[in-house]
This record gives sequence, C-alpha cells and structure tokens, in this order.
Amino acid sequence: MNWRFSRQAGALSSSIIREILKLTQKSDIISFAGGVPEPRLFPIPEITEVTIKVLKNNVAQALQYGITEGYLPLRELLAERMQGYGIKADADNILITQGSQQGLDLLGRIFFDPGDTIITELPTYLGFIQSSSAYQVKFRSIHMDDEGLQVDHLEELLCQNLSPKLLYVLPNFQNPSGVTLSLERRRQLSQLSLKYSLPIIEDDPYFELRYDGEHIPHLSSMECAENCIFLNTISKIITPGHRLGWVVAPKEVIRRLVQAKQAADLHTNSFSQRVIYEYCAQGYLDGHIKYLCQEYVKKRDAMLEAIEKYFPPQMRWTKPQGGLFVWATLPEGVVSSQRLLERCVDAGVAFVPGSAFYPDGDGNNAFRLSFSTATEEEIEVGIKRLAGVLWEVCQEAPSRLTAAQQ
Ligand SMILES: Cc1ncc(COP(=O)(O)O)c(C=O)c1O
Repeated sequence: MNWRFSRQAGALSSSIIREILKLTQKSDIISFAGGVPEPRLFPIPEITEVTIKVLKNNVAQALQYGITEGYLPLRELLAERMQGYGIKADADNILITQGSQQGLDLLGRIFFDPGDTIITELPTYLGFIQSSSAYQVKFRSIHMDDEGLQVDHLEELLCQNLSPKLLYVLPNFQNPSGVTLSLERRRQLSQLSLKYSLPIIEDDPYFELRYDGEHIPHLSSMECAENCIFLNTISKIITPGHRLGWVVAPKEVIRRLVQAKQAADLHTNSFSQRVIYEYCAQGYLDGHIKYLCQEYVKKRDAMLEAIEKYFPPQMRWTKPQGGLFVWATLPEGVVSSQRLLERCVDAGVAFVPGSAFYPDGDGNNAFRLSFSTATEEEIEVGIKRLAGVLWEVCQEAPSRLTAAQQ
C-alpha cells in the first residue's frame, strides 16, 4: 500500500534519546543519556497505600470517564500549590495533561501555524523541538551563558519585526544545560514580554529539585504573569509513569487547550489523577521532594567531582544548582559529539550529543550528561571512561586547538 502520510507526519522525527537508550541497553554500558528519574527513589509504599485507598473508595468513579479539564479536587490542590510559589491561579486556570509533553503538544495545536517564528534558548528541550517541528514552525534561538538566556540578544531579535509567536523558556536547571536563569534576567525578560507583548511558555519540571541556593521567583509570578503559560509535571518529583502534568494559563488559553485536548484524548487518566490527588492530599509530596534533593545532590556532587578529577583541562562544563543535567563542551574542532559518542559506547559509557538540543542540528561540540540513574560508584567509573576518550581525542588533534584553549 502506498500510504499517503500528511505533511505534518513528515515533519515528525524520532527522539534520538530513545535511539541511544536502545543502544545503551547492551552489555555493561554506564549511561548518562536518559533524562529519566531514578526509579529506586520512587515513593512506592506511599503510592501503594494511596492506590489501595482509591480502589477501596469510589473506585467506579476512578474508572469512569472524567471531565477534560481534570479532576477538580486535584486542580484545586495544584492551584493552591502554585499560589504558594506566587503564581496566581485558581482551578479554572489549570488543565491536567498527560505529562507536560502533552501540554507542549496542545500548545502547538492552538498557537502554531506553518511558518510561525518561535524563540527558544540554545540549547533547548528536545521534546519541544520535536512537538513544535510537527507544526512546521521556524526556530530563532538565543544562546545562553551562566545566567541563562541572553536577554539583550532577545531584545535585538524583537526589534527586527519578526513578530515571533512566543518564547519558550526553561528557567531552572535547564534541560539540557543545567543552567538557571538569574533573577535579574527574569526581571528583564518580564519587562521585555510586556514591552513587546511577547507570550512566554515557562516549562519548569525541575524547579523543586534545587540542591543549592534559594528559590528564584517564576516569570509567571512577575509583572508579565498575564503573558505567561506555566507547565509543571509530577514526572520528576513523584513518578513519570502516571503521566500527569498541568498547564497554568489565563482562562481564554485554557478554554482553547481544553478543546484541543478533547480532540486528542478526551481527558487525562481518571485513576492516575485520583491516586496522585490522594498522594498529595495525604501530605507526602513535600517530604518526598526533600528526600529526592538529599539523594540527587550526592549524585550531582559525585559527577562534578569526577569531572573535575578526570576531564582534560580543555573541557568546559556547567555546575547545576539542581535538576538532573550537566552540559559539557569540547574544545572547537576536536571531534563531533556524535562521533565521540560512538567511541564512548565502545568504551562503555553513553551521553546525548548536543545536536539533539539544537533546532538546526548544530551543537556538535557539546553533550548532555544526566546523573539521575547511575549510582555514585557508576558515576565515578563512567566519567573516568568518558575522560579516557576525551584525553585521546584532545591529544589526537592538539594542533587544531587554539592557543587560548591549550
Ligand atoms: C523541560 C521538559 N519539559 C517537559 C518534559 C516532559 O515531561 P513529562 O514527563 O511530564 O511529559 C520534560 C521531560 O524530561 C522536560 O525535561
């Protein structure tokens, strides 16, 4: 059969991370590739307890269709939680989604037309590149430094009359770079959003996994709040398998998202919503987040210490205050991170090449390391293996390094 797939289907691509994960399931590879949370940290006894509670009480309702917006008690609880972070929301400002990924896809459905210009950080979240590419948008990207998105460059872009549809930003411990947008930059961004009527998608799955420093206010709690759409998820703080996220947005945006979600899947899994509601209502969440931070900080430290100890001096890397990722940059002209990955897999270690996080496929001199699932011992061994290959490639091409890098 000659299937006549749509142009939109032609614009879809498979996640390179899924491909790498297949590769790393072989032999004794230590993988820093997946961005998944550590399954050994899932709150299994508490999830079991609240699941039994849902099964015993009103199970028929938990197995029935629900409303598209999501289970009202859960939306009320999340609205209160958001208010605790300064985000003004009530239940009507919230749509429960099948994870944040669905939130991103639905936002694409209601906002993007082919040819629209979307601004992102560079690098940016692979899943957003994937979901919005389906809508045939054009990406304009802005580099980041230690303080996150370079807001001055954003203003230069905004002056160019491109009338971008929106800005997509990951302000805390960004996936993939681990970088956090500073308070000063957030304030500037808030002003720019107001000055240029620029809508902002603030995708923030990691902000509660903070290991150092103080919480920084969300863009969605600043002056530009009315221009912001906030995405959050339980995937990194409870479990990804329940597939539960939420969008916080002005009501007119929620109304459109609800229509798009009705067409996509009617509503998010009723059973998961009640289980997660019970989990939060029992007061388990904050204690669990504290526990996660205590555990992940050990892994983060193990990775940074091993990098410091073993990497060649030409390498650069970020030092995340939270989240799950470190971003490493090779000296220019040494080897592409794609080619480096092939050699590293032979040496028994894996990561995600930087190009996965660049809408234009550039980013070949960088790669993402995730410290979430390896043990501290595996992190040490894996970084040592990786460093072994890095020393080789740096020595193979020393003449191509600039004097400054040497
Ligand atoms: C920045 C970002 N946004 C969205 C998602 C999707 O999360 P979810 O599991 O809630 O769909 C992820 C998952 O890794 C992410 O890192």
